[in-house]
Amino acid sequence: MTNNQKLKDWVKQMAELCQPDSIHWCDGSEEENRNILDLCVKNGQFKPLKKRENSYWVVSDPSDVARVEKRTFICSGNKEDAGPTNNWMDPNEMKSILNGLFNGCMKGRTMYVIPFSMGPLGSKISHIGVELSDSPYVVTNMRIMTRMGQKVLDILGDGDFVKAAHTVGYPLDNGKKDIDWPCNDTKYIVHFPDDKEIWSYGSGYGGNALLGKKCFALRIASVLAREQGWLAEHMLILGVTPPGGEKKYIAAAFPSACGKTNLAMLTPSLPGWKVETVGDDIAWMKFGEDGRMYAINPENGFFGVAPGTSMKTNANAMLSMTKNSIFTNVAYTDDGDVWWEGMTEEKPSHLIDWHKNDWTPKSTQPSAHPNSRFTAPASQCPVIDPAWEDPKGVPISAFLFGGRRASFVPLITEAYDWNHGVFMGSSCSSEMTAAAAGTVGKLRHDPFAMLPFCGYNMADYFNHWINIGKTHDVSKLPKIFYVNWFRKDENGKFMWPGFGDNIRAIKWVIDRVNGTAGAVDTPIGRIPIADEFDRSDLKLSQDNFKKLFEVDKEQGITELNEMREYYKMFGEKLPKELAAEVDKAEERYKNS
Ligand code: GTP
Ligand code: SPV
Ligand code: MN
Repeated sequence: MTNNQKLKDWVKQMAELCQPDSIHWCDGSEEENRNILDLCVKNGQFKPLKKRENSYWVVSDPSDVARVEKRTFICSGNKEDAGPTNNWMDPNEMKSILNGLFNGCMKGRTMYVIPFSMGPLGSKISHIGVELSDSPYVVTNMRIMTRMGQKVLDILGDGDFVKAAHTVGYPLDNGKKDIDWPCNDTKYIVHFPDDKEIWSYGSGYGGNALLGKKCFALRIASVLAREQGWLAEHMLILGVTPPGGEKKYIAAAFPSACGKTNLAMLTPSLPGWKVETVGDDIAWMKFGEDGRMYAINPENGFFGVAPGTSMKTNANAMLSMTKNSIFTNVAYTDDGDVWWEGMTEEKPSHLIDWHKNDWTPKSTQPSAHPNSRFTAPASQCPVIDPAWEDPKGVPISAFLFGGRRASFVPLITEAYDWNHGVFMGSSCSSEMTAAAAGTVGKLRHDPFAMLPFCGYNMADYFNHWINIGKTHDVSKLPKIFYVNWFRKDENGKFMWPGFGDNIRAIKWVIDRVNGTAGAVDTPIGRIPIADEFDRSDLKLSQDNFKKLFEVDKEQGITELNEMREYYKMFGEKLPKELAAEVDKAEERYKNS
């Protein structure tokens, strides 16, 4: 319960608008969780898994399987503040649309009031939100993904919170029966950065509905971060300890489904190396008194891509989801477990696929949706970092940027300096994945892996990064690198083994941070000295190794010209430092 008048008034006002049958204030207790899970099982939405304690199989409507970027809006007072990469609508116009849609939207349902904290409870760095939702699926997922319940209200007191209203948009009026996955063809994922408010209509899936994640911890938080001089990034955070060496923390930004969860908890293929996980998707970073950048993971769980996850590729993820987990849009096995493409080498002889149809290895479609996901508590990760809930955060020594690039981009490159690193971040492009509705495989710009997640003008965001270099001691800032695990050979096969072998690139990062490895200057940045790069016991031909670091001059210049074109959309707002970086890179090509 709460005495927060603003919260009570808002809940009352939203209940009047949405007209639910009842209101349930989530206390976050075990008993409450049990009751909601039991309800979900009883109404047929959740199927308990025999093989995993307190774990459930859920499938969504086939139309509601990923984030919907075209339906995602940043409704700032000024259009200019949303910038050229976001959808914008006048806030008043949008509010009136939403008020219309939300009118009576929860009829026949319960409105759950979900108080949640992004970041450890009570930490100065944390922020509190309250999500109103008519989806019990959302409640059970939010309980894993955030710190949720009465303890959050206790800390909130009469303080401020981010309002996050969510509905699946499927009222049960006029005797309409409920269905397993209610949703609506009309979808709106809307952010009001000036009021720090979120409204989500019509979807029950992932980032569209679990509003603490992308909506709050990235889109709204990036606005707060800009106002207050910190960073809210689409980054994993990992701790790396070399054999007998000092532990360092690295944060890495890759677009959706490009390897964050995997890198965050990798099992190193090099003996004696240790990797520990702080977070797998989002980092909030502030400066410490010592001038270094400190990161926390605002989340409490993993909402990870299932396909491709196996004991071989990501054992620590597999071990995180052995209990207390929710599986969405994967396949269901005959012995009451889950399966997805890549989980085991041998395919099960029979499954129920994510459409709830029979599936055999002869089927032409995958049994699990490519964006099927597991929701698992971070505390269950065998290599969770001892400092993962430290309110101080962990000091970051290096940033990695990356994406899926079948050609051109080397395995790893180091930036010449901070501004060059910011240029690298801004120049990220990646082949699209199933994490968002759209054309899978299409190459697109995804600066800082934040294209779908920046809550304000991307050019102002670039400037925020440039300013950090201007206003801080650059010797204490993280070194910046660009990686690409996804380069392909002429037969379309990945040249780099990836996964646990990515530790080899991380090793070079650590050596560069420590000043113990050399580098070769190339037009796009510094690359490792071939003989210094650890290839012990690695199955990779000399030829492929060379190709992984190849920098094609002609394509390089083409890419630079394309960057110049891309930057044009930002007009006057583009930091001149970034335009200068294009010129500098061009000079380097000319002299190479
Ligand atoms: P989001 O949760 O959408 O933000 O994704 P993510 O960035 O955490 O990506 P994730 O680690 O879940 O990986 C997505 C897909 O890429 C999975 O199918 C992985 O198996 C695959 N993958 C991850 N790392 C590598 C790698 O090093 N090499 C190759 N070839 N595939 C990888
Ligand atoms: C992503 O798409 O980057 C995700 C999944 O992490 S979602 O929560 O749906 O945004
Ligand atoms: Mn993500």
